[in-house]
Amino acid sequence: MGKKILLANDHIEGIRFLDTYRKHGGYASLEKALKSMTPEQIVEEVKTSGLRGRGGAGFPTGMKWSFLAKPEGVPRYVVCNADESEPGTFKDRYLMERIPHLLIEGMILSSYALGAKTSYIYIRGEYFYVARILEQAIDEAYAAGLLGKNILNSGFDLDLYVQIGAGAYICGEETALLESLEGKRGNPRIKPPFPAIAGLYGCPTVVNNVETIAAVVPIVNEGGAAYAAIGVGNSKGTKLISASGHINKPGVYEIELGVPVEEFIYSDEYCGGIRNGKKLKAVVAGGSSVPILPTELILNTAAGEPRLMSYESLGDGGFATGTMLGSGGFIVMDEDTSIVKNLYTFARFYHHESCGQCSPCREGTGWMEKILHKILHGHGTLADVDLLWDIQSKIEGKTICPLGEAAAWPVAAAIRHFRKEFEDFIRNGEHVNDVKHYYRLNNLTALIN
Ligand SMILES: Cc1cc2nc3c(=O)[nH]c(=O)nc-3n(C[C@H](O)[C@H](O)[C@H](O)COP(=O)(O)O)c2cc1C
Repeated sequence: MGKKILLANDHIEGIRFLDTYRKHGGYASLEKALKSMTPEQIVEEVKTSGLRGRGGAGFPTGMKWSFLAKPEGVPRYVVCNADESEPGTFKDRYLMERIPHLLIEGMILSSYALGAKTSYIYIRGEYFYVARILEQAIDEAYAAGLLGKNILNSGFDLDLYVQIGAGAYICGEETALLESLEGKRGNPRIKPPFPAIAGLYGCPTVVNNVETIAAVVPIVNEGGAAYAAIGVGNSKGTKLISASGHINKPGVYEIELGVPVEEFIYSDEYCGGIRNGKKLKAVVAGGSSVPILPTELILNTAAGEPRLMSYESLGDGGFATGTMLGSGGFIVMDEDTSIVKNLYTFARFYHHESCGQCSPCREGTGWMEKILHKILHGHGTLADVDLLWDIQSKIEGKTICPLGEAAAWPVAAAIRHFRKEFEDFIRNGEHVNDVKHYYRLNNLTALIN
């Protein structure tokens, strides 16, 4: 059994509430930090831990924290990114729903370490009920003197707020999130300056994912070196994986980084194999925006090494033969899955979610959706596959924020690895079924018969 750090206590009844959370060691890290550690020592422990951001990009958290500007007389902010809109990703919801105090304790520790006196949890609108769970937990923490003035008689003050977004994928991009938090339309900002220099209200700000902030609690408790002892290479510690698709046991799993992908898919400890005894066809390993890989490349690298659940191993081979760990949204597809239909669903999503600021993304996502729609309806030509390829190549790297890449990479990878399936689809056309699929997608089921 792999070691669990964040979800070690998630099965305990009542762990959502402060009393139970404390009975099982909750807020011990905070007491330790406030009694015996300086803010700088916490930043050092986080650096030593090798923790990398769990929101998708995997940037080293300690390094990000050390970039935070410290001008005199200017407030600093810690903002938790709980937008979790990447299709296939639902681990932050699970953590917040089950153990809200773990995130709150992590927020207090991070705010103490970074000198913030006001901090925010920005949560997607669709997680309204989770926001209520967080707010109840925050009320409990205030009542117990864990938030507010002079926390645990340490002289440290912190106010923590939950801000609910309006349900836009783009507001997960950290600068769009900050715009939204300031009450504006969630358009990404041009960088530099990065949030560490000019973030919320123009002040130095750290934005971190829910899981990243929660991981600060065990890092402070056990020490950064103990955390770094888990994992493989530069992939330290544990990672929450949202496993979905055609598997026997979908759900959220905490893995020690470095578990072989094959073990993750087939062992009973995790996904329990492919549903109905079917064969594996492909996996999107890190949320909808990372490149899809066919069976032979997800289980083994191009060099024939077993592929591991780690930043380096999943990325091995670059995008020619590899992918990314991303947010850990692990979507498994069996042999009956249509890559063309799947890609259309993704393309439709990205077109809908583009903020429209940059023309390559605004226009390109629309084109890609339209072409895939045309192919699905039996009107595609072989030249459309090349056109799709051409469009995606003209989005990547040409936009203010990486939503452009998020839309382009799935198209590129689907064509790279499954070109023949697109061509067969165009030649043989499954378009009768696909019209039905389109109607279902658009809630027009009455038209099917
Ligand atoms: C379009 C887009 C959507 C994103 N959505 C999320 C999200 O829902 N949650 C998240 O933590 N990071 C998301 N990110 C990444 C954030 O911009 C940022 O890198 C992250 O919150 C940093 O936290 P970390 O260092 O702890 O990973 C998104 C990025 C992009 C470009």
